[in-house]
Amino acid sequence: MRSYFSRRTYQAHQVRRFAVYALGAVSFCAVLLVLHGYLSTPHIPSQYEALHAPGAAHPVLPLQQAHTHPLHNAPPRHHPKTKVSRTTGWRFATPADELGALIGFMAAFASNSLPAHVDPQQPLDPDLVLGFDARDENMRDEVREAIREAWRVNPVVVLSETGSPPASREAKDMITSLNLYPDPTIFEVDQRDDADIVRPMLQRLTGADLFPIVIIGGTPVRSIAELRRMRETTALNDTITAAGAKINGKRKKHGRKH
Ligand SMILES: *[C@@H]1O[C@H](CO)[C@@H](O)[C@H](O)[C@H]1NC(C)=O
Repeated sequence: MRSYFSRRTYQAHQVRRFAVYALGAVSFCAVLLVLHGYLSTPHIPSQYEALHAPGAAHPVLPLQQAHTHPLHNAPPRHHPKTKVSRTTGWRFATPADELGALIGFMAAFASNSLPAHVDPQQPLDPDLVLGFDARDENMRDEVREAIREAWRVNPVVVLSETGSPPASREAKDMITSLNLYPDPTIFEVDQRDDADIVRPMLQRLTGADLFPIVIIGGTPVRSIAELRRMRETTALNDTITAAGAKINGKRKKHGRKH
């Protein structure tokens, strides 16, 4: 399921630490690649490396499982990367879809970040965030499923900022005090390498001016005031439950951080 979202770039400090793992990973990978006969597949090394990246925040599908995933059953060596021109490429249907795919991408690996050339005010290129070619008409169902999966795995997302501590802290405290399972997915947006891109992009896609932004089941709560209002009624607990997170559903403390 993690393989819906690709791993595009490495944070600089992780690259250095990762170098230690690279030699072993590459040689082991080579053996596996030969065994699978997929020498020309570009995605396998990154899947494998992701397993061993020190910053990888989530469990990643082992190589074998990745191959049995429905999305990967198509012969990888015929991955139609060059069939469709970039300029006539497929786009996400709505900003909500863009948001789902972006959050899925950001959550899949702690090191996932958007490249510097991305214009946050333009529609997000699906190629940057999806682990498969979405420009094929036949892939629309897979895109829809990837977005559903992003919200299923990340039912409650907190987009926080260390630069505006009181409101961000309040939102995080409010959410973490519910002891959710699965853990809330928390991003410190201003701490990211791609902060200058992702910050305005998240504002565009959620319609929120300021952080923190809490996203429950794919629906943004656009201000701390709105979040407080929701907590005063049953709305906060109800929407979180409806999104698939269980209140008081986890045993140990501490939210998952990104
Ligand atoms: C929401 O759930 C929390 C945790 O169980 C509880 O303390 C709180 O009272 C609930 N809120 C409402 C309005 O029922």
